[in-house]
Amino acid sequence: MEKYDLESVKKDYYSFLEKISHRKGVKELNAYLEKHGLFKTPASTKYHLCIEGGLIIHSVNVTKLALDLKKLLLPSLPDESVILCSLFHDCHKVTDGFSNTTYIKNEYNDSEKQPYLWNKNQFSFSGAHKSLLLISRFIDLTRDEMQAIAYHDGPYVASWEDIASDPYPLTFLIHFADLWSTWVIEKGKDKTIFNKKFLEDIL
Ligand SMILES: [Fe+2]
Repeated sequence: MEKYDLESVKKDYYSFLEKISHRKGVKELNAYLEKHGLFKTPASTKYHLCIEGGLIIHSVNVTKLALDLKKLLLPSLPDESVILCSLFHDCHKVTDGFSNTTYIKNEYNDSEKQPYLWNKNQFSFSGAHKSLLLISRFIDLTRDEMQAIAYHDGPYVASWEDIASDPYPLTFLIHFADLWSTWVIEKGKDKTIFNKKFLEDIL
């Protein structure tokens, strides 16, 4: 896993935020998320970036990659949409929107021994759809932004069937940037180290 300097990640976050701050509701959404612990939130309970600040590290990673991919694959997509969806696709990990934090630090010496626990008191709802609900409280989203946020888990989840016949390019872009950031950049699954030919190993 890459080492991260949280202060420089926050700087990157604010510079992306600045690029979309003219959009109505963005500043308010950011203020709401900061108030509920945006910079302390982990990215997961025990998987990738299950550390303080893990979510912001992940969100910035996804944004950088999604912008690079956009330039290559579909330059006509507005940067604004790409940044907005990438930065906030996982904002349900901060709070459920009803003042309940999503993760609780695991202070107990229990058998699970994982850094964070899922807050069982929070509103039960699909994570990606909860992000969409949260963002929509502040920002008037376009159709493709809505779909990209709500279906950023791609075909890995059953709800993909809802949109399987009509996915938008932005949805694929955010999904792939999320997938690559999680598995290759953050979990360090660099299979190139195993790229030796089979016979080299056994001869
Ligand atoms: Fe994500």
